[in-house]
Amino acid sequence: MNTPVEGFSKLSKAEKIDWIVTHYTQDSVASKKLLERYWNEDPKIQQVHDEFIENTLSNYYLPFAVAPNFLINGKFHVIPMVIEESSVVAAASKAAKFWLDRGGFSSEILGAEKVGQVHFMYHGSEIKLQQFFAEVHPKLLKSVASITKNMEKRGGGINGIELRNLNDKIAGYHQLHCTFETLDAMGANFINSCLEQFAKTLTSEAKIYQDFTSDESQIEVVMSILSNYVPDCLVKAEVSCPVSELGEAGISGQEFAQKIVRAIEIAKAEPHRAVTHNKGVMNGVDAVVLATGNDFRAIEAGVHAYAAKGGHYSSLTHAKIEDGIFTFWIELPLAIGTVGGLTSLHPMVKLTLEILGHPSAKELMQIVAVAGLAQNFAALRSLVTTGIQKGHMKMHLMNMLNQMGATENEKQQLVAYFKDHTVTNASVKEALEKIQSQ
Ligand code: MEV
Repeated sequence: MNTPVEGFSKLSKAEKIDWIVTHYTQDSVASKKLLERYWNEDPKIQQVHDEFIENTLSNYYLPFAVAPNFLINGKFHVIPMVIEESSVVAAASKAAKFWLDRGGFSSEILGAEKVGQVHFMYHGSEIKLQQFFAEVHPKLLKSVASITKNMEKRGGGINGIELRNLNDKIAGYHQLHCTFETLDAMGANFINSCLEQFAKTLTSEAKIYQDFTSDESQIEVVMSILSNYVPDCLVKAEVSCPVSELGEAGISGQEFAQKIVRAIEIAKAEPHRAVTHNKGVMNGVDAVVLATGNDFRAIEAGVHAYAAKGGHYSSLTHAKIEDGIFTFWIELPLAIGTVGGLTSLHPMVKLTLEILGHPSAKELMQIVAVAGLAQNFAALRSLVTTGIQKGHMKMHLMNMLNQMGATENEKQQLVAYFKDHTVTNASVKEALEKIQSQ
């Protein structure tokens, strides 16, 4: 019987499991067994996972894979990817190999600035507010000295605090728009701690500012929070080669390059296509972001806002043909870290960072951007030539066979058979039934 519960978070893990399987599953014994089967056999590792969030019952596996042969700025990388979609890692590996034979990827950081804002309401004289801000500015910085001390020692800290008037959007709405350099940390905690202190200092200083009327001195802080929109924390990744090196099965290099350019023009012109185009980019981006323990929701939100920065949602990637050279590139806003957060807690994240050669946050931004670009190239390459289903369904074959309950022997036979036959749900079912009836 479905039922509400009080004080659930205070129950022990075993009690939580018993309650859930009793009230919300058909077969409580099997459900409990399933949850327990996905526990890590090392209780210490399990405890680490239990403590990431509240009410943990078990673990939820996703495949951890690697895509080798990425040459980025002259250095080889094997890129760990965490993703459930069957064709993504194969596509990344294929794109890596394709560009390895054509000089590899280049990548550069265009900016590393993070953003946070104190949103507040003030309905008084703008000139007085500006004068107050000029006076309070050094006090704001001083009030966060204990928070910024270590970051500053390492070369980071607060880049700037700007007073913004957004009266045209909401009457009385203002911001302290703050920018930060957080080095190898994603910086969410650092930024939010600074912002909350700024908010306190702002309101307390306003209360005693001699030029404010009593109404003006009541600055109302609404909230203080980092922004996941980071258009100046930007990385570019690029590949290029002579068009003549791009020949694909049955089509010339020139035609192939033109089709890719045209596909990108379409994604720039039309949002339905742009969303799917960028979804392909994010197949690569999210997989690496997840493997490195970064916050993929933050990245998704920021990247899609960036894709719409021109006023309509558009392609994240770009391509051109100039003087016989095909160039294909991406610009992505990526606020990610290689220290802090999950990076020192999750054993698989630690391994990922080791495989990547312990990158700095800026190096990781470059790797992630390359993964996104590679994924988009692989998708477009299939789309403008053979179509996506051929490769996709081949990779999906094993999922279908597992779903259909094929034995190991049947799987082997059918994988061999479908090397040169078209994979569809119906054709796989038919071939499996044929083997089973023999
Ligand atoms: C599927 O996960 C991603 C694609 O749809 C991307 C695209 O259409 O460019 C293949």
